Amino acid sequence: MSPKKDLIGIENLNADNISQYLDLADNFLEVLARPIPIVPSLRGKTILTLFFEASTRTQISFSIAAKRLSADVVNFSQSTSSVKKGETLLDTARNIEAMKVDGVVLRHSAPGAAQFLGQRIDAFVINAGDGTHEHPTQALLDLMTIRQHFGSFKKLNVLIIGDISHSRVARSNIFGLQALGARVAICAPPTLIPLEIKGLGVEVYYNLDEVIQDFDVVMALRIQLERQQSGLFPSVREYRTLYGLTKERVQKMKRKSIIMHPGPTNRGIEIDPDVADSEKSVILEQVKNGVALRMAVLFIHAGGKIE
Ligand code: CP
Repeated sequence: MSPKKDLIGIENLNADNISQYLDLADNFLEVLARPIPIVPSLRGKTILTLFFEASTRTQISFSIAAKRLSADVVNFSQSTSSVKKGETLLDTARNIEAMKVDGVVLRHSAPGAAQFLGQRIDAFVINAGDGTHEHPTQALLDLMTIRQHFGSFKKLNVLIIGDISHSRVARSNIFGLQALGARVAICAPPTLIPLEIKGLGVEVYYNLDEVIQDFDVVMALRIQLERQQSGLFPSVREYRTLYGLTKERVQKMKRKSIIMHPGPTNRGIEIDPDVADSEKSVILEQVKNGVALRMAVLFIHAGGKIE
């Protein structure tokens, strides 16, 4: 693959594009297992993580990934930046350009922000989540984790539970899983399913207890508690009763099935603590794989050479 300058989403990637990221990430997992887990691939390059929304996993793992590749890393967050003083994203971009960074990892609340930035600066741009649009590296690390467990996506049954309407993680995963040939279904209250769901080509279910036993991968999404104010679901307690991953529900799942969650988790709402910490849960494998996967993404988009 000759990658585009930027990684904005999964929607326009095909199976070969995705496999190239995942294959390289598997190689970087081996690097990360070494006593000194560093390679010189991006020595002399500067990567900026530019986060206008809160993040734990994504910003830290991009930062670690860049350092493991020997890049210089600058971390920037809205709370400490001049955006607080009224600077626009375009002004910020021009200043970044003047400082000659090689790559920007951007998280922003506006769908399209990463594409906007990528079209205006020479540095490559990686979308680390743009509003409700996409979160491509989360989906790629999820696909990497699924491939480790099942080897292939053919005949694989994946169920995504929760707030599909507002989830960039769900959108990116749906595109990636479909490109790789998996069967994808969603299960949620009707108010949390987007109107254009038919266009995404997924199966839609409303009753989790009727279907959970059919799936190899069950992915719970974070319930965005702020949505409760807008009346999109009646109460946290009712959501947990109908859609929460409880021990009783998980006991009905296939023997070799796995449970995923992109984080941050609301323990006791979409996933019970004993389920999040159970043998079926691969949540911390997702986080571990995130570093290797983000090394692969930075390497590919920085045009790194294998030494
Ligand atoms: N999954 C994810 O994007 O987590 P953070 O918001 O902590 O980066």
